[in-house]
Amino acid sequence: MNLTGKVFIVTGASSGIGEELSRVLAQKGALIVCAARRTEELERVSTAITTSGGSALAVQTDITDLDACHHLVQQTINTYGKLDGLILNAGISMWARFEDISDITFFQDLINVNYLGAVNCCHAALPYLKKTQGKIVSCSTAQALMGFPNHSGYVASKHALHGFLETLGMELNGEISILEAVLSWIRGTNLRDNAYGPEGNKLINSTRKHTSESVSLEECVEQIVQAIEREKKTVYIPRKLSLVPFLNTFFKGFLQRKVTGAIDKNES
Ligand SMILES: NC(=O)c1ccc[n+]([C@@H]2O[C@H](COP(=O)([O-])OP(=O)(O)OC[C@H]3O[C@@H](n4cnc5c(N)ncnc54)[C@H](OP(=O)(O)O)[C@@H]3O)[C@@H](O)[C@H]2O)c1
Repeated sequence: MNLTGKVFIVTGASSGIGEELSRVLAQKGALIVCAARRTEELERVSTAITTSGGSALAVQTDITDLDACHHLVQQTINTYGKLDGLILNAGISMWARFEDISDITFFQDLINVNYLGAVNCCHAALPYLKKTQGKIVSCSTAQALMGFPNHSGYVASKHALHGFLETLGMELNGEISILEAVLSWIRGTNLRDNAYGPEGNKLINSTRKHTSESVSLEECVEQIVQAIEREKKTVYIPRKLSLVPFLNTFFKGFLQRKVTGAIDKNES
């Protein structure tokens, strides 16, 4: 896909991967609609794009609200007249063993944002994406493909989204395309600080550290954008994650031991 003049909605554009994706796509000539809840942060991102010569529109959107998602798409059409890409990036996480959680109501938030929020955006955007043979990009995770300790509710929400998009891709084969970016841990975003802990609180300034195996924000976004340009259906970041489906089928015990070890390293 040549990105020049293509119109992209980026959800979760107010920080982390969504912010960097918005910036890099705009640098390549795409017209960006930045969506998230925090207006000031959205304005900061869209202003940075426009002052460096790009085109961006900020639309405050809570993706758990279906009407807000329709408003987001309508604003996009009113401003740019079309929609070529929807980047499903907004997301929230957790970090706690299930048996240690005292208040599990945040499991509803995980499903409402990570799964149903993405479904809301797809439903609102689909008629316009079909007109341009457009693309849906999901900022997914290896945790959409296998179990992962301390992330049960997040894993469930990302599995749901993975299954939904796989089905959508089959139903709309040839009409739209779907790219699933399967990510490992990415350094430099707010996901960990905003993750839910055992008491349903946010884990701001926790002692959990990224190991050297994590991927930088810039490297991650460069690879996602390259995959969009090359019309890929899946991109694994880093590439070794492409072994996950195979290992999870044929060497599940081995994979689960590796993952449990990786979680322990991130705790220290
Ligand atoms: N970082 C990683 O290690 C990693 C690994 C694999 C996959 N991912 C996925 O990558 C995506 C981006 O994460 P990130 O690491 O960049 O985290 P981040 O810096 O915390 O960004 C999350 C974004 O989601 C937005 N958001 C949250 N709830 C929302 C809602 N209800 N409506 C609209 N926007 C909402 C936030 O904006 P507001 O608060 O302003 O609404 C923020 O812009 C997530 O889907 C995550 O699961 C991340």
